[in-house]
Amino acid sequence: MRPNAMPAQDSAAPAEAVTPLMRGLTVLRRLTDTDGSCSLSALERASGLARSTVDRITATLARMGYVRLDGRDAVVAPRLMELGNAYLAALRLPKLLDPHADALADGLDESVSLAVADRDGIRFIHQATRRRAMSLSFRIGDLLPAERTAPGPLFATEWDEADWKRWHERRAADPEDRGFPAVPLRSRPLAGSGGSALGDDFEERTQQAREQGWALDDQLIEPGLVALAMPVRKADGRIACVVSVVSHTSRHSADDLHGTLLPRLRSAVAAMERELHEAPPAAPDAPSGLATWTGASKQELGREFVESLARGLTVITSFGEGRAELTLTEVAEATGLARATARRALITLEHLGYVTAHDRVFRLTPRVLGLGYPSLSRVTLPDIAAPHLRTLSEQVLESTSLAVLAGDEIQYTARVAPSRIMSVNFTVGTRLPAYPTSLGRVMLADQTEPKLPEVTSLTSRTVTDPDELRAALDRVRREGYALVDEELEEGLRSIAVPVRDRGGKVVAAVNIAMHSSRRTIEECVAELLPELRATAARIEADLHVAGRFRKVPSI
Ligand code: PHB
Repeated sequence: MRPNAMPAQDSAAPAEAVTPLMRGLTVLRRLTDTDGSCSLSALERASGLARSTVDRITATLARMGYVRLDGRDAVVAPRLMELGNAYLAALRLPKLLDPHADALADGLDESVSLAVADRDGIRFIHQATRRRAMSLSFRIGDLLPAERTAPGPLFATEWDEADWKRWHERRAADPEDRGFPAVPLRSRPLAGSGGSALGDDFEERTQQAREQGWALDDQLIEPGLVALAMPVRKADGRIACVVSVVSHTSRHSADDLHGTLLPRLRSAVAAMERELHEAPPAAPDAPSGLATWTGASKQELGREFVESLARGLTVITSFGEGRAELTLTEVAEATGLARATARRALITLEHLGYVTAHDRVFRLTPRVLGLGYPSLSRVTLPDIAAPHLRTLSEQVLESTSLAVLAGDEIQYTARVAPSRIMSVNFTVGTRLPAYPTSLGRVMLADQTEPKLPEVTSLTSRTVTDPDELRAALDRVRREGYALVDEELEEGLRSIAVPVRDRGGKVVAAVNIAMHSSRRTIEECVAELLPELRATAARIEADLHVAGRFRKVPSI
């Protein structure tokens, strides 16, 4: 077990702490440290919990859509990002500052990141990555030891004695940084260290950061990786977050990074501070995660559903934009939980460092991002769709696919075929003309002025007349699905529906394809369309959670 891994039974926990919630959080943290996937038996070993307990916890998390059970493995699922999203929405910085960070990355053609302080570490809340080969790149939610980064000394300018003491203790207890799975261990001597133990000069670097207002990372994480950082301050002068420009020694030495890029970093920071100081108060989010369904799930799953775990996690989702600071009463109201239940959940979350309490007001901490966010923060639409396509294919015993529009063509991006002879055979990456396919038609129908290419007849049924094609697209738009019968290939029938992003734009399509002898057209509509729509809705729900603070790649 890593030295900082949480023991399953925490003897220091307050009497009111909710044990199943602590266990569930242990499992989620463990899954995060193992990059999102872990066998149930490894979870059992790492947590010290009984197998039956691990089974019930993972069944509950699966029911919530937070993990997927895949054979013997538990795998984090996109819906889990709901927890980190609650923190990021409450924080507001991503919404206000991400566009500035992206513009700076574009302007410099270098990676730019935003980080917040997380005790004696730094945690990323945004990454605008332009990294080329060679160096590792970090993800939203990754935690780094402060002394091995450029933002660290800037944050440490605000540390008090207790903070420095905690830092010294951590360094002594974990000299190799085993508690930070995102960074390489210190055991190997690193280039920038000049042979001395890394971080030995942290106090000195903090003093310099105080005087200069910026800080450097000269290969403290790994050889070649350099970064220049500046703080973004709130109106009261305290640091809200730190912006880093990250490069590689093949393009910039650390000194040269500071010499050439500091002026542009400075003006980006000035623009960010203006944005922050002038932003109107946040419009409150509608609280999500109403607890009513937990009771229903308990009824359905019985012993396998650990209601107190589900309720405790629901408390995290009651925070959000305009809901950064909540009282116990507000949490109880937003979740629909009894006050006593909400209170015990908050006490547990506070004990484990996921919330802080001041003057009866609770706030989420950046540690919430340690619950699955890093491994999920790079999911693509095909990743999101794959498990849902698998379920659909098993249900209807036909092949199902996801595709995007690429000019006049569709491109398959995910596909599941049941093992059966005669299954329709296109692989991921295959391109086909859009107009004679159901996938293409639902995507063309979303365009305001679809450009119809010269259409060639592929079968005796291919619609080639532009007016007829336009009428077909109108119908797709009205009915919300496309059914294409043997227009691409004799004997091939398929039905497709669109997949929309948070803004309602069609970003992909899903279909079921089959041999025309399998079902009549009427049966396709009556039997397959409802299942297909339900699948698209599940993909969209995940996409909307995963796409809240970053653009989810469609390919
Ligand atoms: C990063 O964003 O990847 C980053 C930032 C600061 C560092 C190192 C890496 O010191």
